[in-house]
Amino acid sequence: MSFAVVVLAAGRGTRMRSRVPKVLHEIAGRPLAGWPVAAALEAGAAQVVVVQGPDRALDALIAAAGERVSGAVQEVANGTAGAVVAALSELRGEDVVVVLPGDAPLVDAASIRELVDRHTGRAAAATVLGAVLDDPTGYGRLVRDDAGDLVKIVETKAAGDATEAELAIREVNAGVYAFNAAMLPAALDQIGSDNAQGEHYLPDVLEVLRASGGAIGAVAAADPAVILGVNDRWQLAQVAAIAQARIVKDHALSGVTFLDASSVLIDVDVTIGEDTVIEPAVQLRSGTTVGRDCHLGQGTVAIGSDIADGATIRFSTLDGATVGDGVSVGPYAYLRPGTRLEAGAKVGTFVEIKNSVVGEGSKVPHLSYIGDADVGPGTNLGAATITANYNGKTKVKSRTTIGAGVRTSVDTTLVAPVTLGDRAYTAAGSIVTTDVPAGALAVARARQHNIDGYADREG
Ligand code: UD1
Ligand code: MG
Repeated sequence: MSFAVVVLAAGRGTRMRSRVPKVLHEIAGRPLAGWPVAAALEAGAAQVVVVQGPDRALDALIAAAGERVSGAVQEVANGTAGAVVAALSELRGEDVVVVLPGDAPLVDAASIRELVDRHTGRAAAATVLGAVLDDPTGYGRLVRDDAGDLVKIVETKAAGDATEAELAIREVNAGVYAFNAAMLPAALDQIGSDNAQGEHYLPDVLEVLRASGGAIGAVAAADPAVILGVNDRWQLAQVAAIAQARIVKDHALSGVTFLDASSVLIDVDVTIGEDTVIEPAVQLRSGTTVGRDCHLGQGTVAIGSDIADGATIRFSTLDGATVGDGVSVGPYAYLRPGTRLEAGAKVGTFVEIKNSVVGEGSKVPHLSYIGDADVGPGTNLGAATITANYNGKTKVKSRTTIGAGVRTSVDTTLVAPVTLGDRAYTAAGSIVTTDVPAGALAVARARQHNIDGYADREG
């Protein structure tokens, strides 16, 4: 069955107490409003219309979501019915219109498909997704008659809309509906704002449709958790925890081992290969890919980084880094944007690397800063080898080029721009300011002289 989806994301979100629009707050690295869009696309929506406020905060999200997704603007946040009205002119004629709240990120593709199937199966005017919650506070309640048929939905957010008896109902409105597209515009026209918040409530459409002879129905969510909405930051935290548990479970079922599944943070777009082992307190943030057979040690944080097969990362931070097959990193390494470690490279303890390539099998084992450098294969940079890549006077950064099979000794400072040819050596404590030819040893330090009898003299 072909259907369109309207995502309501123009509300003010005052309960978040934030300068950031509610629907841009993130869960697992994806803004709230991105979740229903992704679920709608996965469910097979022919068209998705995202209703945003006049600040157009979602323009970038809409543009990035692909050609099935377009935007509409609700100029004044006068209620959820007003938001759907704002989308009507964008709709291209699907028979069924599904409405999703922009603040309920756990509604999944399966729930949307099930709702559309049940709705079309009985040719209803409207079908709403409901769930029974232990704590229904703040949600609209499904009011049924003695025969169990749905009569209407009452709002409970502000005092005055619901009676005591209605407040006791635990069956709530998910804010997810399927509508007969042909009947929807006229029904929306009839909705007033004579209620506690002075808003046009979308749920009132059900009563209007029912009064005009249309069938309205409710479908129970398979798992009540899918309907949880985010109205304040505590709900944001709770829904984030559920989303996170889902993400980790999916990875575990695809062959990833978690030593402590509850302590990791994995953003929704991260991919992880089979037989990778993840220790406690690991964070894999947006844009990160992890290959097979990797071992990610405790406390590792990877942001927008690519980690190839068989890599071992211990207690390190990777930000915009690319790590090749079988690479070993850490503990306590910091790989900054533009770092590329080729296959089999090793970066050890207290090493920072930025905008540099470390060649195949090369090692930077201890206490180094390597910035703006190209390091060839099979090279070993001794402890505390440092690139002086920044000239504080000219404010220019320069590159350091280090060939293949190079051996720098401890405490070598390479003042860029400078080149070390293949198989070059440096002596311990050297400050290298001019190029070192291939195969040469650079000794760039003061010669030692000993003052005999010094201790006796001073005594
Ligand atoms: C709404 C439902 C309630 C349901 C709950 C489920 C109404 C009146 N109530 O309540 O029955 O139980 O969702 O989560 O619909 N929005 C707009 N324009 C507006 C107002 C809201 O686009 O003028 C958007 C918001 O950005 C939000 C969504 O609609 O994403 C729901 O609005 P919200 O204010 O959160 O409604 P709830 O009080 O949660
Ligand atoms: Mg809400």
